[in-house]
Amino acid sequence: MARIPIEFTLNGQEMAEFVDGGATLLKVLREKAGDMSAKGGCHQGTCGACSVLIDGQLRLSCLTLAGTCDGARIETTAGLAQGGVLHPLQQAFTEAFASQCGFCTPGMIMVAKALLDQNPRPSREEVIEAISGNICRCTGYEPIIVAILAAARANSINAA
Ligand code: FES
Ligand code: FES
Repeated sequence: MARIPIEFTLNGQEMAEFVDGGATLLKVLREKAGDMSAKGGCHQGTCGACSVLIDGQLRLSCLTLAGTCDGARIETTAGLAQGGVLHPLQQAFTEAFASQCGFCTPGMIMVAKALLDQNPRPSREEVIEAISGNICRCTGYEPIIVAILAAARANSINAA
């Protein structure tokens, strides 16, 4: 299969890779770029565990061909903490016990980041709608909803 040269930034770091034409972004992130934060759950677009941001837009990396990401700005949970300080969403997930086995957590956090970037003070219903494509088998979802709402409150206090 033809190999395609691509350049992109991953959490602000410039990357250059040769990728197989059929390789997913999830595979390239995990197996070439060394970023294991996005998880492969279903590999068919139904669990949300592989969610990342591409040019600020929420995307499922298991359904995104890496070859389409040339020139893209890719963000994953691996890049959220700054200088050893957790991102407000990571902090809120920790405090609300919103992560148990943790498999869904990176995807949930990227979905939440996409939501808060667009809508800094979402309603509970808007949070539920935002995470509706992401499966969690551990928490019963309520701690995740609580965490995202808490992160939104923390963001608005910090911005005030
Ligand atoms: Fe991508 Fe499940 S691994 S949606
Ligand atoms: Fe285990 Fe969500 S914390 S799947």
